[in-house]
Parts: sequence; C-alpha cells; structure tokens
Amino acid sequence: MGIEQQEYRQRQRELMSKIGRGTAIFRSAPLATMHNDVEYTYRQESSFYYLTGFNEPEAVAVFAPHHEEHHYILFVQPKDPEQETWTGYRCGVEAAKEIYGADEAYPIAELNEKLPQYLVNSDRIYYHLGKDEKFNQTIIAHWQRLMQGYQKLGTAPLALEDTRPLTFAMRLVKSPGEIALMRQAAKISAMAHNRAREFAQPGVYEYQVQAEIEHVFRKEGAIGIAYPSIVASGANACILHYIENNRQMQDNELLLVDAGCSYGYYNGDITRTFPVGGKFTPEQKALYEIVLEAQLKAIEEVQPGKPYNEFHDLAVCVIVQGLLDLGLLQGDLTEIIQEEKYKPFYMHRTGHWLGLDVHDVGLYKHDADTWQNLTPGHIVTVEPGIYISPNIKPAEGQPEIAEQWKGIGIRIEDDLLVTSNGHEVLTSDVPKSIADMEN
Ligand code: GLY
Ligand code: MN
Ligand code: MN
Repeated sequence: MGIEQQEYRQRQRELMSKIGRGTAIFRSAPLATMHNDVEYTYRQESSFYYLTGFNEPEAVAVFAPHHEEHHYILFVQPKDPEQETWTGYRCGVEAAKEIYGADEAYPIAELNEKLPQYLVNSDRIYYHLGKDEKFNQTIIAHWQRLMQGYQKLGTAPLALEDTRPLTFAMRLVKSPGEIALMRQAAKISAMAHNRAREFAQPGVYEYQVQAEIEHVFRKEGAIGIAYPSIVASGANACILHYIENNRQMQDNELLLVDAGCSYGYYNGDITRTFPVGGKFTPEQKALYEIVLEAQLKAIEEVQPGKPYNEFHDLAVCVIVQGLLDLGLLQGDLTEIIQEEKYKPFYMHRTGHWLGLDVHDVGLYKHDADTWQNLTPGHIVTVEPGIYISPNIKPAEGQPEIAEQWKGIGIRIEDDLLVTSNGHEVLTSDVPKSIADMEN
C-alpha cells in the first residue's frame, strides 16, 4: 500500500497546469534537533512530500513547466558513503531521476548556480515564505537579481506568489490511494484505542496506557504517532493538549484518550472517553450522553454539498441544550450561542481537515461569508466535547458550577470520509455507546 510513482507524476502535472509560465519552488523540512548532535526521526514537509514522495532533508523541488528541457528538477544531498555510514542512506542525484522521476537533478550545493535558468523566463515565482529565514532570503535574492535584468531583457518573474492556494486545493480532496492509507491509519488507531480501553483500570498510570497504544502503532506498521498521545485521567481531561501522561488513574474518574498513528505519512485522530473503573457516575453519564448525541447528530450533517460549518453549529446546539437541561447553563439557547456563553464548557471547534497533516491544509472559508462545501474525498474529524475544569469561570450571568460537576472532561472524536452519497466513518471499529464504554 502506498502512493504509486504514477500518482506523483499526476500531481506534478496538475500543479504545473496551474502555474502556467511560473516556476514553483518547494523546500524540504529541516532536521529537528532532539539534543546536542541527536536528531528527531526525519519527517518531510507535507506539501513537498505530496508532490515528490521524497523523504530526505536538504532538498529543493522546482517545477518549471515553461522550461525547454526540464519541468521537474530536484536538488538533493549527493551520495556520500562515508557520511551515510553515520547518518543513514541517501538517495543521491542519479536516483533522484531514476526513482523519483525528476527530469534533472543536482547536488543541493549547486542550487544557487543552477536555479536561475529555471526562473529567468518565468513570469512569477511560486514560493511559500516559510520558517527557514535563510532560505527565504536565498529565494528573494534570486528574485531581486533577476529583476535587475528586467529592463534589458524585458522578461523576469514579476511576482512572488504563495504556493498555498495551489497545494491546499490539491491536498484537500483525497485520491483513492490516499484514502486507502487513511483507512489503514484509522484502522490501526482504532485497534490501539480498543487495546487501551481493555488495559486501563484504577491504579494504572496514564503513561502505561500510552505505551499500550503506541505499541500497537509500531507493531502494525505505522511510522509512529500522528501527534503526542493525550492520555488524560480525571481533571487532566479538561486540558485540551495534556501530554504529560504521568498520573495514576483512580476509580470513579474518566479517562480521555486522544491518540492516532501516522501510517505512510497519513494520520488517524481518535478520541474516546470512558470510566476507568467501568461505571459512569451519574454526572459523568449525563455529560457523556450529551457529547455522544452532539457527535452522532454532527456526523449526520457530514454530507456532500453541506457547508463546512453546519456540523459544528449543530454540535454546539445539542451541547448548549444539554447543559441547559442540566441547569449548568441558564437562559435562552439562541442568545447563549450568539453570545458564546457556552465557551467555558466547549472552547474548540468540532472538527478539522485530516490528511498528511493532522490539522490538514485546505480552506475552511472562501470569503468572510462563504464556507467551503463538503465534497467527496474530503476527510474531517468530528470531535465535540464538554470540559468542566476545576477552575471553570462561567460566563457573565451564568450560574456557578457545583463541585460534583468539576473535573469532568469528555470528547468523542471520529474521522470521516465524505462520499458521493453521504459519509463513511473510518474509525467505526472503536465503540462509543454508553453500554460499550462501561463493563
Ligand atoms: N489530536 C488533536 C486534535 O484532535 O485536533
Ligand atoms: Mn482532531
Ligand atoms: Mn484528536
């Protein structure tokens, strides 16, 4: 399973059909230092990977459809047997052509010398000014030098344009090959969640549950975690990105597990919340029912042609009505929503695009008033929650929260593929009914 070279060619063609006489430049991700001379496992920048399938640092991909000889050019680290003994295998310049299909490839050290020929006759440079300031300056310096020749030559790239409108649109709609990888990421993530629920019990530490989860990820062939696993017991569940995972779990509390794997660079993202000791308290159960209803109703809204915001708006409605019914909010539903008085309980949105990035690229809105419509091939998470932090500050005019509600945090999250006639829940292997969460 994976993306065939042919599909990369197709993506490159699509990109080039959009840039006309422009030249697009993509920069690889840097190596990240863990400490001193030890580096984290390398992870390519997602759009670079999407367009090339090339997974090495110190690389630049150039697309120049107007160029007479070369349309796709890779600059890579050359082969260096001595260096590779220490730092691992490099593909090298020749294989960049043979394996990755570049029309031409050069050692990265020749970038400044070779790049201008691919820019001089283009009408604009497509480049995303990223975090690598030094490389940004390299590209700007090339652009300025070419502009100096404009008067004499009558041609130069007159504009610098961001690549994101190009890559966002392409990456948002997943191909059959990408969907297969997403299914596998979802399947392995689901297996890990099921193992976590079987393993968790009072007295166990959060990190031990984390270990069970991540064991499954690697054992099943995933690259590893899609994001730091959140294993949050008791009030820790009210901290949205809690990753310390060092607390011993107690009876009568909930455990919120938000974890997903990365499989072939594509990510799963699942959350389940269940009672550590196998039985919900009445307060936990009342809140869980609301979140589950919000999630199931929101999932129904994930349909092709529906604006992106609708499933969030519906989830908010169900949550606010539920909190009103429990007396945790007071007043008029519409007013509470308009004035965002529910936000002390529910402060995040109900989902996000999911793909090569966990919070994947793609527009949510086309302009201030127009949301993106859900379309077959989109993949979204649906993840409502209710969080009653021990320090919760109710909105103005809202009641104080009684102690028995405090320290409860619940989120339920699934990954959905939008299909031509509705949706498919990719993560349905993990149960979530009250009965399934209790034992
Ligand atoms: N795990 C990150 C998120 O759910 O968005
Ligand atoms: Mn998510
Ligand atoms: Mn998540």
